[in-house]
Amino acid sequence: MTGGVLIRKNAISPRRGKFIVLEGPDGCGKTTQARRLVAYLKRRGKKVLLIREPGGTRLGGKIRRILLDPANGEMSMEAELLLYMASRCQIVCEIIVPALKKGVNVVCDRFLLSSIVYQGCAGGLDIGTLETIGRFAVGGLEPDCSIVLSLPFKTAMERRGVRPDRIEARSRTFHRKVLRGYLEMAARHPKKTHVVESTGTINEVQQEIRAIVDKTIK
Ligand code: TYD
Repeated sequence: MTGGVLIRKNAISPRRGKFIVLEGPDGCGKTTQARRLVAYLKRRGKKVLLIREPGGTRLGGKIRRILLDPANGEMSMEAELLLYMASRCQIVCEIIVPALKKGVNVVCDRFLLSSIVYQGCAGGLDIGTLETIGRFAVGGLEPDCSIVLSLPFKTAMERRGVRPDRIEARSRTFHRKVLRGYLEMAARHPKKTHVVESTGTINEVQQEIRAIVDKTIK
């Protein structure tokens, strides 16, 4: 068992790999772009690990199933937040921090900003409280670079699958707030968070992402 103090120590001790996070609303093409980015970095001879949230660990996989199961409709927003945070805490101490310490770069499909936006901006939970819980859950670990893929609301809705999970199945109003939340949060931290329009072709969007990441992973 790993305690919180140990996680915090791990997260702030010197690390050699870079931590890159891809974010964005459902349907923004993040997962495809993350896979391509990792293939590109590997071709450049970089050590790199691709992970996703929620999930990425044995425990996280179980939590993911609970979170996304449409049968769990009674889940409160607070319980939902804490489950996302629990999954995140586990992947930080089990996978991300050890990889960064070994000099492996980590590309993460969603991180803390997803909770700020989905459970905070759209779900109505207090952002300040959420940031405090978030810092505790990740032991102060911050991405070296965050990229938000943004696209018009209508396009995002059209890309939604035929069998939406519990979060995707939420109202249009909720998803509109998610999109707006990403843009607001990115505007608050412009140095750390880059917004890339995801309306171009897969290749065009990928080129933009690579140009940003190349400045972090040299
Ligand atoms: P997933 O199938 O991984 O979607 P995507 O490919 O769009 O990332 O499902 C993750 C869902 O969980 C997605 O709808 C966003 C939501 N989510 C939150 O609401 N809060 C969070 O902290 C995270 C990480 C994800």
